[in-house]
Amino acid sequence: MAKLAIRVNGKRHVVKAERDTPLLYVLRNELDLHGPRFGCGLSQCGACTVQADGKAIRSCVTPVSGVAHQEITTLEGLGTPEEPGAVQQAFIDNQAAQCGYCTNGMIVAADAFLARHPDPTEDEIKRAMTPYLCRCGTHFRIVEAIKAAAKSQAPGERR
Ligand code: FES
Ligand code: FES
Repeated sequence: MAKLAIRVNGKRHVVKAERDTPLLYVLRNELDLHGPRFGCGLSQCGACTVQADGKAIRSCVTPVSGVAHQEITTLEGLGTPEEPGAVQQAFIDNQAAQCGYCTNGMIVAADAFLARHPDPTEDEIKRAMTPYLCRCGTHFRIVEAIKAAAKSQAPGERR
């Protein structure tokens, strides 16, 4: 076991882990952050998505030592129940979930996407979200939520 320092949601944490332990396990089991979820564990579904320096990554296949110098943001870092972030609020407003298992990864991925593409077309949203799987078939509402989030963050319309 190594002692590793990682930054998550604006705070520094020192964790004990093997260098190749998946970041997902450290977030959930050591830091008690359950926003990132275990879906496939094989980089195929996106349920475990977090941001590393603003880029969406799959924490189930990312060794914790690989992000030691990056700022990690989980769903918990995007807002709170009292003050949800723009994408979180848009998912709520558009009821963009059924079972909700994929939702956290979708929100984190969409937030990273919108930071780089603040005024996306519907096709761009669909392309960006294609690698994120929803077994309930909520994709239509997810796309609507992302469009709404982009609109709510447009200059002059920020909440
Ligand atoms: S749990 Fe990481 S991609 Fe499915
Ligand atoms: S809402 Fe159930 S997996 Fe997406």
